[in-house]
Amino acid sequence: MKKKTFNLAIVGLGNIGSYFYKHLTYNKDQIEKKTNTNINIKYLSARNKSKKRKISIPKSKWIKNYLDVTKKKDVDIIIELIGGSEGPAKKLVFNGIKNRKHIVTANKSLISKYGNELSKLAESNKVNLEFEAAVAGGVPIIRVLKEGLITNKINKIYGILNGTSNYILSKMSESKLNFNEVLLNAKKLGYAESNPKSDLNGEDAKSKIQILSSLAFNCFINKSDINVEGIQSVDQIDIQNAKTLGYKIKHLAIAELKENKLIQSVHTCMIKKNSYIANINGVLNAVIIEGKPIGNYTMQGEGAGPGPTTSALISDICSILRGNIKLPFTIADKNRKKIKTMNFSQQYFSSYIRLDVLDKAGVLSGITKILSKNHISVKRLIQNQFRSKKFASIIIISHQSKNSNITKAISELSNKKFIINKPKFFRIEV
Ligand SMILES: NC(=O)c1ccc[n+]([C@@H]2O[C@H](COP(=O)([O-])OP(=O)(O)OC[C@H]3O[C@@H](n4cnc5c(N)ncnc54)[C@H](OP(=O)(O)O)[C@@H]3O)[C@@H](O)[C@H]2O)c1
Repeated sequence: MKKKTFNLAIVGLGNIGSYFYKHLTYNKDQIEKKTNTNINIKYLSARNKSKKRKISIPKSKWIKNYLDVTKKKDVDIIIELIGGSEGPAKKLVFNGIKNRKHIVTANKSLISKYGNELSKLAESNKVNLEFEAAVAGGVPIIRVLKEGLITNKINKIYGILNGTSNYILSKMSESKLNFNEVLLNAKKLGYAESNPKSDLNGEDAKSKIQILSSLAFNCFINKSDINVEGIQSVDQIDIQNAKTLGYKIKHLAIAELKENKLIQSVHTCMIKKNSYIANINGVLNAVIIEGKPIGNYTMQGEGAGPGPTTSALISDICSILRGNIKLPFTIADKNRKKIKTMNFSQQYFSSYIRLDVLDKAGVLSGITKILSKNHISVKRLIQNQFRSKKFASIIIISHQSKNSNITKAISELSNKKFIINKPKFFRIEV
């Protein structure tokens, strides 16, 4: 059988792009053997030609204007490694598809924002749009959803989807250091970017769970009614309290179908300390799927960094090299559903509430009055004295209560004069 030749263009040669280019060059033979094709790394492009990089770029491969790769006849596959949901990455991917180039991208922001439009465009132009590297790089969850679990009826998909947050929470738990100290170390070790905002505030995990839930529930990527909370409010004292109570604090991304409605949330919560997900530590990611007929299915691996991301990018390229046009979200645009959402504020949870208070008469009854007014009943109450006898920390574990009632009660409590620090509240996931 005659081998087909594919020409590749890589745009973006930063943290991921440089490592990926090196790996692809070293492993070219292996990829060609496994896919029975010939591959040519034809063009490379980035913003600044004279930037010092870990790789040397052959002059013949450099393209000054990155958008030119979308027009070149001798380009079959474009690998977009610029990042960001707007600007150059968006232009490159939209134009590439319009000019009938296959696309491989690691860009979760772009796919979560424009995945519906891009998927439709790829379908009508009969090209592949692959994005395994956009979600939990070292965990090939997208291919598993598209192929291994193809006809499973999934009702819940959740997990730890941000390695930086998980690293920080794990280190806080092991070391007794506070949030800012651990974040500083994480930056020094390269586990957190210099601007880790979207990792810490939950936005990164939000993009990932949007993509996963679309694949799991055969629906369009849903952008409304998503609850997004980060890890910034976690204090060392909450980590220690969780341990005493038999829990661990983790940052989860959850998508679930209830009464045929979609619930999506990203939040920090307490989980039983001997559960599987509570023991996913460091930069590891994990995804759990509940479906039929598979039952409970779990995958774990490193979520980010050049190695795991490159592994996912190569897998996407090989999928294209093997042939066939695959629909980006497995089913045709006309068969994807618009799904109704359920407002997260209407969900019920048991919760952990920590209130630092003035230790004086009437405080406890002031607290219970607000809780009972908001229909929150107390399952457990612990009072810890501060070193200075004037203050105390009250920890409340509530029975299952409506999310909106808990947030209302917390807001009312925050305004009370006897509260000395901002109240802390974490849901308890079962
Ligand atoms: N870092 C991770 O661990 C990780 C994990 C999974 C997925 N991803 C995704 O991978 C993608 C790349 O991330 P990264 O960490 O490699 O980013 P990065 O280090 O900031 O690299 C971005 C690259 O894009 C190039 N670029 C920026 N603007 C451009 C423009 N206008 N025209 C042409 N090139 C331009 C830059 O060029 P210069 O080099 O000339 O400045 C740089 O080479 C993102 O979508 C990210 O979300 C990253």
